[in-house]
Formats: sequence, structure tokens, C-alpha cells
Amino acid sequence: MAKCVVFSSAPLSKIATSKAHGEDSPYFAGWKAYDENPYDVASNPSGVIQMGLAENQVSFDLLEEYLAQHPEASSWGAGISSFRENALFQDYHGLQDFRKAMASFMEKIRAGRVSFDPERIILTAGATAANELLTFVLADPGDALLVPTPYYPGFDRDLRWRTGVNIIPVHCNSSNDFQITLEALESAYTEASAAKITVKGLLLTNPSNPLGKAISRPILEDALDFVIEKNIHLISDEIYSGSVFSSTEFVSVAEILESRGYDNAERVHIVYSLSKDLGLPGFRVGTIYSYNDSVVTTARRMSSFTLISSQTQKMLASMLSDEEFTEKYIRTNRERLRKRHRFIIEGLKSAGIECLQGNAGLFCWMNLGPLLEEPTREGELRLWGLILHEVRLNISPGSSCHCSEAGWFRVCFANMSQQTLEVALRRIKSFVRKRSTRQGSIYTVDSL
Ligand SMILES: Cc1ncc(COP(=O)(O)O)c(C=O)c1O
Repeated sequence: MAKCVVFSSAPLSKIATSKAHGEDSPYFAGWKAYDENPYDVASNPSGVIQMGLAENQVSFDLLEEYLAQHPEASSWGAGISSFRENALFQDYHGLQDFRKAMASFMEKIRAGRVSFDPERIILTAGATAANELLTFVLADPGDALLVPTPYYPGFDRDLRWRTGVNIIPVHCNSSNDFQITLEALESAYTEASAAKITVKGLLLTNPSNPLGKAISRPILEDALDFVIEKNIHLISDEIYSGSVFSSTEFVSVAEILESRGYDNAERVHIVYSLSKDLGLPGFRVGTIYSYNDSVVTTARRMSSFTLISSQTQKMLASMLSDEEFTEKYIRTNRERLRKRHRFIIEGLKSAGIECLQGNAGLFCWMNLGPLLEEPTREGELRLWGLILHEVRLNISPGSSCHCSEAGWFRVCFANMSQQTLEVALRRIKSFVRKRSTRQGSIYTVDSL
């Protein structure tokens, strides 16, 4: 960056200078360590392996194959007139063909058990923007959203930073595999009331990041009853809905609403994005699906700040409305993720490491509690630092996800080749072996 001479520093806004973005957490520090010394099998075999990024690369070949077979999808199509169509004004409704294609893709992921109305689809630049936008629509500065822990660290930024809204954690723990209970919801709500904070909604991530597990139907029913009783909103972030290893293991809140005849549906809002299931985080494609007319209208107006380019919408409209392609993609992607998941879970198990029994996502939730010198956040961060700098694996500490128990880590497995995953697993195994026998003080990765 070019240096500029500053004579006196004119102050910036409170938002610009606040720390509520949460980006100084170890979750993001680990990414930096990876960027500075990235693993490469040939040129940097002792570099850091990135296992802190929930990115899906396992089905990229299918997307590339589709584009090779359908060059018109990513080109200007009918030539110069199509270029004009893309380049000229797009209003905040987004392209109708794309909204239709998104609605139909979301239905396919739920195996046709529910239907989505394209007129209720609001397009946003990713789920990041969708979650922030919904928070702006549902809550005022100083209000709160309840969020079960452990949760995606980006929520600290997305829900709080620019909106001025608080997050009240709903503490879940390992005694019941971190499942949400009515008691935990009540307790978080009571904590907010005691602090005179108005709760505006509950945000669920289903399937959960970082747990890699879908929420069961009875818990969803309880959560819906809870928001009805408290007269608050329910946001269901279903960004990993297509990354459940089998469609029958996932229940969308949309299915619960359907089974209840859409009673109380106007308080429910679903967030989705193509960043995970389709592995396209760079395209910035997200959506809000709301059953509430006023939310649809307001969120659509607000989406002016975060539109998706026409070019991207055109390309994806073409891809997602190809039934043969989407069916094959969803099926194959699920199978590949399941296989990867089994590989890492079994590998870790053979090293004596237990993971939460998951059924979804691009990561597993690993328990390194037995390796902690002390069962505290500090102990967890010390172990994390050791794994990052000596084993050279960037995994995410549970404390960055606000987990209330020390020793849990999120390990991503879909953002690398199978070979790299095997190297990572060998490194973990060797580390655990040395650590548990307390032999050899410094771990070295050069030989792996
Ligand atoms: C639960 C959850 N919500 C939202 C996001 C943000 O996704 P996007 O890339 O679509 O903005 C992520 C990304 O990791 C996530 O895990």
C-alpha cells in the first residue's frame, strides 16, 4: 500500500473503530499463518496445511465438466446483445430465471419434500450478507439474537458488527452431543431479560457449523414452539443443507412449517448460499427465503447494497436449471463428502482421537480434551498454537466458536486433495503418539 503522510488523523466512525468484527480471534490468525507458509507437496512439504477453511473442493470436477459441455453458460450466450443484457441495469429483484433455479435447487436438496416460491427468494452476496441483512431487518441496535454454541465465528462479525445487535449464547455441551435443549434456550432468554436486553430472534445453523451434524426434528419442533411462545423470530441458516451425507438425515425448518400447515410461518426466515454445497464461495451467491411479506419487501430493498452480478446469475441459472446435472451433482457430492468424513474419522479414531458423530458438512468436531495440560481456554489455545506452529496444521479451536468446553477443535477435510488429507492425518497421529508418550519435545514435520 502506498504510504501517505498523515498530519493529523481525522477520526473514523464508531463502527470502523470497534472490535465487534471479531477478526482478531485465533480462527483468523490461523489463516494468516497458513498464508505465510502454505503446504505444497512439491515446493513446500513442511508448510502449514489449511484445515480451518470450510471450503468444498471435492466436486469441482463436476462443475468444470458441466462448463466444458455447456460453454454458452459462462460465455455471453447470444453474443453482443447478451453482453448488453448483462451489462445494463439490474434491479434488486434479481433475475427471475435465477430465482426460479435457486428455488428448485433448494427443493431438490430437500428431496422435493417442500416447495419454495421464487417470489420469496431475496438474492444477496453470500450468506454473510443474508445474515447481516436479516439482522438489520429484525433487530435494532442493542437488541439481541440467541445463538446456540458452538457457532460459526463469522457470526460475531455478520450479526453484530455493523448492526449493533448483541449475540446471547445458548450454551450447549458435550453431555448430550451439544444438542440444543429447551432449558438452554430458556436460560439464555432469562439472562437477556435480566440484563434488560430485548431478544428479537433465535438463529439456528442446521446442519451445524462447527458440529457437522443436522438438528433432529424434535429439537426443531421445540425451537419453533419456543420462538412462538416468546413471540420472536427464527432464522435458520441452512447453508450446509446439501452437504448432509444423506437427504433423509436432514429436516429443514420448511418441512416443519409444512407439517403445521404454515401456522406461524411469518416468523421464520431461511438463509442459504452456494458457497458450501456447490463450493462457490468466490461467486458470492446467497439468499434469504422468508415467509413474511414485510420481511421480503424490506430485505429486497436492502439487498441493493449486496447484489449478485447479472453475469453470475445468468451462468448459475443455466447450471441449476439443468435437472440432470443438479441431481447427479447433489448425489455425487453427498457420497464424496461421506467418504472423506469416514476416512478422517476412522483415521483419527485409530490414533485414539474421538470426534462427535456427525452426518453433514465439510468438517468434523474433534475432541483433544485428553491432550490438554489444563482444561481451560488458555490450555486449549496453547495446544492450538503447538499444532499450528509445530505440527503445521491450521485447525480451529472450539473457543473461537464460543464453545463452553475446552479441548474441542473443528477440522476441515474438503478443501484439499485426498493426498494432502493423508499427510495431515499422519502428522496428527505422530503428534498424538509423541504427546501421549511424552517423548521427544519438538515435533518435526520434515520427514512426513
Ligand atoms: C453457518 C455459516 N453461515 C454463513 C457463512 C458465510 O457463507 P458465505 O460464503 O455464503 O457468505 C458460513 C461460512 O463459512 C457459515 O459456515
